[in-house]
Parts: sequence; structure tokens; C-alpha cells
Amino acid sequence: MTLPGKNAIWRVLVTGGAGFIGSRLVRRIEDEWPNADVTVIDDFRSGNFKNLEGFRGELIALDMAKLDYKKHLRAQDFDAIFHLASITDTRVMDQRQMCWDNIESFRRLLEFTRERQTPITYASSAATYGIDARVNTETDPRKPANVYGFSKVQLENLAEKFRRDPELAGWKLNAVRYFNVYGPHEQHKGAMASMINQLYLQMKQGKRPRVFKHGEQKRDFVHVDDAVQCTLLAMNSGKAGVFNTGSGEARSFNEVIEQLNKALGLSLEPEYIDNPFPFFQPFTQADLSRSKAELGYEPKYNLENGVAQYVKWLEAQA
Ligand SMILES: NC(=O)c1ccc[n+]([C@@H]2O[C@H](COP(=O)([O-])OP(=O)(O)OC[C@H]3O[C@@H](n4cnc5c(N)ncnc54)[C@H](O)[C@@H]3O)[C@@H](O)[C@H]2O)c1
Repeated sequence: MTLPGKNAIWRVLVTGGAGFIGSRLVRRIEDEWPNADVTVIDDFRSGNFKNLEGFRGELIALDMAKLDYKKHLRAQDFDAIFHLASITDTRVMDQRQMCWDNIESFRRLLEFTRERQTPITYASSAATYGIDARVNTETDPRKPANVYGFSKVQLENLAEKFRRDPELAGWKLNAVRYFNVYGPHEQHKGAMASMINQLYLQMKQGKRPRVFKHGEQKRDFVHVDDAVQCTLLAMNSGKAGVFNTGSGEARSFNEVIEQLNKALGLSLEPEYIDNPFPFFQPFTQADLSRSKAELGYEPKYNLENGVAQYVKWLEAQA
């Protein structure tokens, strides 16, 4: 679909809308399209009601993996669906729970909407690439190192399977593979919040920021507003497929600390600790060629202006 004009009345479903990225997306839609009719599904397993402050739409606080769509959504017809609900705690090792919840939630959503072929943009993850220390393009092999990443690969497979049905071949199902998202409204995630958030909290307490030896591991840190922008552009493109959603840059933890020091007016030295995780990713970076060419995505933030914006926001909350 093409995103409608600013005064349009359009009906949007956002799953995981009480979470970090989902709530930012809800806010953006309600701000930009004042007549949008937004429904959120979120069972609050990792979301927070505070993220939905000012939300004007309807909330369905139920588990998507068990939801009886016909009963709870009646025959509700949506113009667009953003599916972000997922177990997001990558430390969850219960394979049955991770796979059941994440895959079944998506399968039920696809079954509910197949007749109308409502366009769906859904959240995948850079975790699908696994520990693959290079710039990743969407065609790289998917080698998830944990069951979380594995469940996201299954979402992508499921979407492809539906689209292989000749009657559904034109269905606009696309995935945004988020890299390391950071920014406002992620605090509720605690240990699962970005490293930028966690290092900020340590430094605010006057503690030396702790990172694994020697802080030179690199990540593609993407600001949540860029992630939301790419998500909207994916919906707008009307294309099917998978799109990397990152900043396009790999930056080290030492550089993050440098930017946090700058934004907070501090000069705390990192404390380097041993890394107990044999499968810790040394490097992630999104190749954005496809997202730029096919979606028109252009990230607004790099680490410098992204951390500055985020710290300003965090300080205003305090
Ligand atoms: N934050 C990142 O860096 C990142 C990176 C890659 C992918 N992602 C993906 O982006 C999406 C959003 O992640 P986030 O960072 O906002 O995490 P989050 O935990 O803040 O948001 C996920 C939301 O989904 C809800 N939810 C989970 N399972 C549900 C279910 N079965 N039924 C109803 N609601 C359910 C949770 O309560 C939560 O509000 C997820 O799909 C996640 O896997 C995030």
C-alpha cells in the first residue's frame, strides 16, 4: 500500500504496541495521521503501559499465540498491519515457548488476514544472521545462533510459504530486519535494553562503564526513530521481501562510551571485564543497499547525533 495522505482515516493494527519500537510507531502514526484508527494488541509480557501514554485507540491485551481473532477482532478490516509482538528476551532458552509463541502468533495473524491479504510489515532481526562478523546483506545465509533468531527465520519462511500459494502471490508481506535498536522508551526492557541505555545508567551513577575486553566489539546501533521510519517505508513500498534496518555503520563500545561521556559532560574510563559468552557477536553491520534503493530509507542518525538526542531525552525524563 502507499501510505495515505495526512487527513486520511485508515485502520491500522500494531502488535507489540506497548513495547519499545511498537509504541514509538504507534505514537508516530497517531501524530502524523490524526484520523488514524489504531488498534494495539499486546499482552504486556515485556511491554509497559507508560509507553502508551496519550494513546487514543483500542487496546486488546491478549496473547497473540492464543488469540481467537474472529471473536476479539470481529470482522475488523485493517488497511495495514505492523507485527512487532514477540518474545524479545534473547536469553530465553525454552525452545518450545520461544517457537510456539513467536511462530504461532504470526501464523494466526496470517490465517486471519489471508482472505483480505492485508499488507503486513513484520519485525525480523539481525539475529537471523547469527555470528557472522561481516557486513550483512539480505541474501547472506541465515545462521541464527540462538532460538530467538531461529524463531525469526521461521517467520520469514512462513511469509514466503504463504506467498508461494498462487492465490496469495501478490500479498505484500515484508520483514524489517532490525539491528541493535536504541532510543526513547526502551527502559522497561531492563537487561534487554540496548547497551547504550545500560552504559548510560552505569555512568549516571558515577560508575565506570563495564564492557567486555577490550571494548572494540562493534555493533550497528540504529536509533528507534530510524527503525520506525524504515518500518513505515517498508509498508509504503508495497514490496514483499526482507529489508535490513540499521544505521549502516559498525561502531565500537568504546566509541559509545566516548559519546556518552561527551553528552553527559563526564570523562569516565571503561572497565574491561572478561567475556563469559563464547557466542558473543564481535561485529554487526547492515548493508543498506536494498533498503535505500527499494524503500528510499536513509537513516537520520549516526552514533554521534543519536546518542546526543537520546541522552537529552533521558535527562529530561529524570
Ligand atoms: N530492540 C531491538 O534491538 C530489536 C532488534 C531486532 C529485532 N527486534 C524485534 O522488534 C520487535 C519489537 O521489539 P522491542 O525491542 O520493541 O521489544 P519489546 O519487548 O519492548 O516489545 C515487544 C512487545 O510485544 C509484546 N508481546 C510479546 N509477545 C506477545 C504475544 N504473544 N502476544 C501479545 N503481545 C506480545 C510484549 O508485551 C512487548 O510489549 C520484536 O519483534 C523484536 O524481536 C528488536
